[in-house]
Amino acid sequence: MGPLDFINAGGEMGAMIRAHDWASSPIGPPEQWPQALKTALRMALTTRHPIFIFWGPEHICFYNDGYRPSLGPEKHPALLGARGSELFSELWDIIGPQIDMVMRGEGATWHENHLVPSYRHGVLDEVYWTYSYGPIDDETAPGGVGGVLVVCTETTQQIKVANALRESERALKQLNDELEQRVSIEVAERLREQARLAEAQEALRQSQKIETLGQLTGGVAHDFNNLLTPVMGALDFARLELQGDEVAQEVIAVGLQAAERARTLVQRLLAFGRRQHLQPQDIDAESLMDSAVELAQRSLRPGIRLVLDMPDTLPAVHADPDQVVLAVLNLVVNARDAIEGVGNITLRVREDNDPGQAGLLPGRYLRIDVCDDGCGMDEAVVARAAEPFFTTKPTGQGTGLGLASVQGLAVQSGGGFKLASTPGEGTTVSLWMPASTKPGIDSQRQGAQRSRTQVAKCHCILLVDDDALVRASGTSSLRRAGYDVVQAADGEEALALLDAAGPFDLLVTDYAMPGLSGLELIDAVRLRKPQMPILMVTGYADTGQEAADVPRLQKPFLPAELVDRVQALIAEA
Ligand SMILES: Nc1ncnc2c1ncn2[C@@H]1O[C@H](COP(=O)(O)OP(=O)(O)O)[C@@H](O)[C@H]1O
Ligand SMILES: [Mg+2]
Repeated sequence: MGPLDFINAGGEMGAMIRAHDWASSPIGPPEQWPQALKTALRMALTTRHPIFIFWGPEHICFYNDGYRPSLGPEKHPALLGARGSELFSELWDIIGPQIDMVMRGEGATWHENHLVPSYRHGVLDEVYWTYSYGPIDDETAPGGVGGVLVVCTETTQQIKVANALRESERALKQLNDELEQRVSIEVAERLREQARLAEAQEALRQSQKIETLGQLTGGVAHDFNNLLTPVMGALDFARLELQGDEVAQEVIAVGLQAAERARTLVQRLLAFGRRQHLQPQDIDAESLMDSAVELAQRSLRPGIRLVLDMPDTLPAVHADPDQVVLAVLNLVVNARDAIEGVGNITLRVREDNDPGQAGLLPGRYLRIDVCDDGCGMDEAVVARAAEPFFTTKPTGQGTGLGLASVQGLAVQSGGGFKLASTPGEGTTVSLWMPASTKPGIDSQRQGAQRSRTQVAKCHCILLVDDDALVRASGTSSLRRAGYDVVQAADGEEALALLDAAGPFDLLVTDYAMPGLSGLELIDAVRLRKPQMPILMVTGYADTGQEAADVPRLQKPFLPAELVDRVQALIAEA
């Protein structure tokens, strides 16, 4: 039996151990090896589990076929029979203390998936092990422990797979989180979009509602307007006929007052319905604002300061000055009502060439802001303030038609309107009016100072109206004022009279009549008598731009107003 027959096994490593030249090693030839080493080696070489042995104080290395694949060419086969601390220098810090501990007889070690970086195949590889270092008892050794038996499994592959799995799980989770976040951002954006859409639809619905209301109101107001003329005429007639009857005069005065209030109301309804008869002129901003301030001052009470903030040069406006002044007055009265006790109202007038905030395209505009430091409005009131009949004032104090008519005027004039308010801080109502396109306009307001000469000689007036009541009341007022009046019920009759009975000093005609319309009659009359002054009585706003040069009297009117206009026109002729 040979000295190494005790390890007559062990495949490749068994053969290498048997072939090794042990005589020159510190542990000497196998014949001298203690039984403990022989037993341990025999166990190592007869199992396929990876086993490593460090023997003696020099830590001479043995390993089996199971262990060998964990070594690169740097270590195998040089490691066999070598000193552990020399060939395992890169990891001696990790394993050296464990070997010492076991050699001192202090027990065994155990590690699971322990990182022990080692050189193999040219790199310092991250190698994981699950392993134990256990004592190999040897009675012949000084401390009773001859070497260290390492039973081990390399788990690098499992760890790498587990790590990769963890990493991909983490990446997946991150992706998921990001996705979730993106989805929730997207959903929030969609919801916002929907809310915006709903808001726009609501605004559209609201403006359609106001538009319908405007048409309806305008139509009703227009018919009502026509009815008021004979009512006022009849009352005025009765007033003159019943002079001396005090009771009758009182009753009539009440009736006239009511009619006057009805006229204001109808006027505002027409303004809201954008059917008021506007007489736009080119007027300079200064005289416009002077009139507005003068009127506004009269409506204020002590404790309220009115300031006009206006630069020296401003464009002239193209608008109906009386209506603009009325609108400003309306806004000032609202401002006054919003101020309790002491406060300020500022009329700020500016040129504004980019009134996008009022929904207007760029162009030249005069912007009038009426600012107050009164109670202001909350959002809900701002949203409804310009609706007709919306008022927060006690019954009898507010009609709810102020802002509605101001807005109607703005739109009908080709301008804009805007409300801005903060509760407790105040309100600014802005009105945009288109600037005049004519260069170098005369700054004088026209018509205001027109002289009224008395009627010197008897003039004859041709009065045309299809409404018998209107005809009768107009005739009686003009006659009382000293005129001769000839009546016609329609255009054909008027032309016949003109040809047969003439000459007349003035034609007063209704606008809307069956048969020849007022405008057609005027054309026919102008062919015959180009010099004859004409006054057109109209209840329609939409007689607009045609025959803009024909003087008009807006229904309803007081008899005195008709007489005034007739006098002025005859005086001019
Ligand atoms: N300057 C203002 N400050 C505060 N609230 C105002 C102002 N102007 C208008 N309002 C509010 O708008 C409502 C409607 O105004 P308006 O159309 O002029 O009708 P009215 O003055 O008859 O109530 C008012 O009742 C008020 O609540
Ligand atoms: Mg008002």
